[in-house]
Amino acid sequence: MAYLTQFPAWTKLTEHRQQWFGAQLRDLFQEDESRFEKFSLQLDDFLLDISKHFITEETLSLLLQLANEATLPAWTNKMLAGDKINHTESRAALHIALRNKSKRPMLVDGLDVMPSVNRVLRQMRHFSDAVRTGQLTGFTGKKFTDVVNIGVGGSDLGTAMVCEALDPYASKDINVHFLSNIDGNHFQQITRHLNPETTLFIVASKTFTTQETMVNAETARLWLVNLIGDSQAVTDHFVAISSNIGAATKFGVAKENIFELWDWVGGRFSLWSAIGLPIALYVGMDHFEDFLAGACEMDEHFLTADYRNNLPVMMAMLGVWYINFFDVRAHAVLPYDQQLRGLPAYLCQAEMESNGKGVDRQGKPADYLTSPIVFGDAGTDGQHSFYQLLHQGTQFTTSDFIVAARPSHNMESHHEILISNYFAQTEAFMNGRGENEAIKSLKQQGYDDKMIKSLLPYKIFSGNKPSTSIMYKQLDPKTLGKLIALYEHKIFVQGVIWNINSFDQMGVELGKELARSIQAEIHDEKQVTSHDSSTNGLINYYKKLRGN
Ligand code: F6P
Repeated sequence: MAYLTQFPAWTKLTEHRQQWFGAQLRDLFQEDESRFEKFSLQLDDFLLDISKHFITEETLSLLLQLANEATLPAWTNKMLAGDKINHTESRAALHIALRNKSKRPMLVDGLDVMPSVNRVLRQMRHFSDAVRTGQLTGFTGKKFTDVVNIGVGGSDLGTAMVCEALDPYASKDINVHFLSNIDGNHFQQITRHLNPETTLFIVASKTFTTQETMVNAETARLWLVNLIGDSQAVTDHFVAISSNIGAATKFGVAKENIFELWDWVGGRFSLWSAIGLPIALYVGMDHFEDFLAGACEMDEHFLTADYRNNLPVMMAMLGVWYINFFDVRAHAVLPYDQQLRGLPAYLCQAEMESNGKGVDRQGKPADYLTSPIVFGDAGTDGQHSFYQLLHQGTQFTTSDFIVAARPSHNMESHHEILISNYFAQTEAFMNGRGENEAIKSLKQQGYDDKMIKSLLPYKIFSGNKPSTSIMYKQLDPKTLGKLIALYEHKIFVQGVIWNINSFDQMGVELGKELARSIQAEIHDEKQVTSHDSSTNGLINYYKKLRGN
């Protein structure tokens, strides 16, 4: 197969890029009033407006030509067929099976995984119902009031984000907490106000070997046993979600409280599995099933819609357009929704752990850019932090703006202000503010001509910053499922284009290995000399500061 930069569409896109030098987004709208209609895509009430981008129909058709030359349809079929597209770990990437509401069998190694998926879903329903109704209690017979999820990365971020997002659907008598950091402060912050008799711990770890999770889980077990005064309590207060059933059993989790995970589910794509148990406990299994159903609708759309009208494909190819042809290095995710505050952090892992790779599927260095740096925050908080750089800085950044038409609260005036900011920012990014407008504004503020002249350069906004707008009726479980699946497929498509394996994460290993060997060196007072002078110096300075 030809490498990406040798595809005919790559050459054509490189040429096509030339015509965009000096182009102004606002001119595109002046030239064509129907741009919004032409360049917005919809799946039910879920709208993706891509009109504020440097695109014409020709751009899109070249990008889709690139998708076809990179054999996206064949890769999609491979994913769907359970082929081991995660070739470095020899694993399938079949997370769509976890929300498969069609009757389609999903095969891995020739076996349909759907019976196992449905068995675990039933187990989740049974367990979450029993906890929520108080049928299942702690060791001393008290109803559980707090659930602590102990996990990190894909066993934490997605679940935490969804619980916060679906807070309006939550039970009022169960709180969820997410313990991820090995920093002891995190453990203390969370357990400080908890009653061990009413606390349920979920150890969420696909491998059941992740150091942070295992150490936190052991500390939690100790905390529980010490405070309750009986080691038998562990059986009632700990459940595990893992593909390593042996290790979970050894930890002390009762067999019926282990929820199985499979190696064909990547950690950062696992919130649809039993890793989502905190969601089911918090909002109830019916809402969790709605969440899966929403994702399934996005899957069906991704698998069946023609590429020009395909939301994930378009989103992915726009990213490729900017990253590979405009040299864009950073992408902002800006949900105008406090409940989606966790989305940027979740997407940091989903996008950067998946596509932050520099070696292609043939083991050759990629001679083109791959994943950008993904960052963001909830609007309007982000506006008061990093938007200055987005508007007037020297980095060219693309952004996704996300909002619900209807809030989940009844403070209408708040939502009006929030959504006005959402509209205003995308408009400001695109149109900017030219010299004449800036002078007018300064005059209105009462400045004299001399001041106007000196302030003018700082008051100009060049605009011309492309953004995607996402809008839907309400952030209900179904819509949230669609939104996350949209990003998952976007990541998959981009991985295909960049010819990389989006499903391994070798880049996290080196630091982990070094930390383990350094841990063995820091116990005593001996001077460390085995590293470079900076690392030696830092370790020895630490020993000095720490004292005896
Ligand atoms: O950060 C590396 C990683 O392997 C992630 O991919 C994963 O989500 C996380 O660690 C947690 O892994 P586990 O669920 O096995 O504890």
